[in-house]
Amino acid sequence: MLRPASAREAVGIGGARLRWRATTQAYRPEGRPLRRALITGITGQDGSYLAELLLGKGYEVHGIVRRSSSFNRHHIDHLHERAETAERLHLHYGDLGDGVGLTNLVRSITPHEVYNLAAQSHVAVSFEIPDYTGDVTGLGAIRLLEALRAAGTDARYYQASSSEMYGNTPPPQDETTIFHPRSPYAAAKVYAHHCSVNYREAYGMFTCNGILFNHESPRRGENFVTRKITRAVARIKAGVQSELVLGNLDARRDWGYAPEYVEAMWRMLQHDDPGDYVVATGDSYSVRDFCELAFAHAGLDWSDHVKTDVRYERPSEVPDLIGDPSKAARVLGWEPSVRTPALAAIMVDSDIQKVDEELHGRSSGRA
Ligand code: NAP
Ligand code: GDD
Repeated sequence: MLRPASAREAVGIGGARLRWRATTQAYRPEGRPLRRALITGITGQDGSYLAELLLGKGYEVHGIVRRSSSFNRHHIDHLHERAETAERLHLHYGDLGDGVGLTNLVRSITPHEVYNLAAQSHVAVSFEIPDYTGDVTGLGAIRLLEALRAAGTDARYYQASSSEMYGNTPPPQDETTIFHPRSPYAAAKVYAHHCSVNYREAYGMFTCNGILFNHESPRRGENFVTRKITRAVARIKAGVQSELVLGNLDARRDWGYAPEYVEAMWRMLQHDDPGDYVVATGDSYSVRDFCELAFAHAGLDWSDHVKTDVRYERPSEVPDLIGDPSKAARVLGWEPSVRTPALAAIMVDSDIQKVDEELHGRSSGRA
């Protein structure tokens, strides 16, 4: 779908423009095929790294952004600042709650690959807003799948499934492990996962589910536990915070490095056959362990600063996640290199730099 030029160019986003693209731009001037990817959740941690990866591979990248009163595009602003990526990055307003809008976008963009990363992604918050979480995180996936089906496209589809779906099932977890969701978020992800499998079986669509275990980075949202910890370490080190209040310190997670995990997403869609893959490091650390690693990296003792409060505990907890990524290694050749201790160091160093900038107004490189 094309709009009049004036309407197409009407809305600026953080210095960038919303652009509606014609399908005739599917090929570069020199005739080399240009692959088009559509990313939902492009403003989030994974979406921003995936956009970088795909732009680096020469893709034309379309991202769906939600309308909000204040801009929250800081993870992708730098992609608009570089001419070589800005010309191939296009943002469109949309929402996983708006099926008609998704259908119009898919018809207009005609993507070759679609990465559904958008979600209400916070597990604890999903207990507060279960209906909304089910609508966006669960039904949002089927709206997008239906949009693809209605457009009659043969685009390849990636669904951001989650290790949270295993819930109470003991580790190690792989692609054959049964799901036992322990939150509205996890139940919504199970629904979306099965829809993706069903559209593969029912309609022959190329759909892949990446069952990703926790992955973090300096772009991780500040209310996820790793970032909450590394940010607190930086602030305590700088003397602007004295304590950190957390919930359950015994929960164990398999924490990897987000930029490596988006590479696995891309590899899934390049394979000859669609499938479902666990993406994980195969190691597990408790929240307490992560505190110890992060504080120690800054020369601090975690036990001097960390307190607990039941208000950060969940009505039902996921106690222990350890992924077995051997299928991804065998079939996709994907292996992680950054393990949890190195991840904690990367995040602490980044937060120390950010706090320094906040306090002293110094500017530095992008995380
Ligand atoms: P994130 O940082 O929370 O990003 C979520 C993205 O979804 C944001 O861009 C957000 O936009 C967008 N979004 C939220 N509601 C939307 C809606 N109604 N319509 C359109 N967009 C909407 O999440 P992430 O860590 O990058 O994770 C990416 C995906 O992987 C999510 O689906 C998550 O559930 C899943 N996952 C994550 C992990 C992990 O450890 N990170 C592990 C397994 C699975 P705004 O910026 O406007 O809020
Ligand atoms: N957020 C948070 N805040 N978690 C805390 C806190 C706290 O103050 N204290 C302890 N935790 C514990 C949680 O109870 C949980 O067991 C663990 O730390 C990790 O919590 P999060 O970082 O919020 O992540 P998550 O594991 O619940 O969910 C993340 O990973 C999933 C994959 O397994 C999210 O990214 C999900 O979107 C993703 O699907």
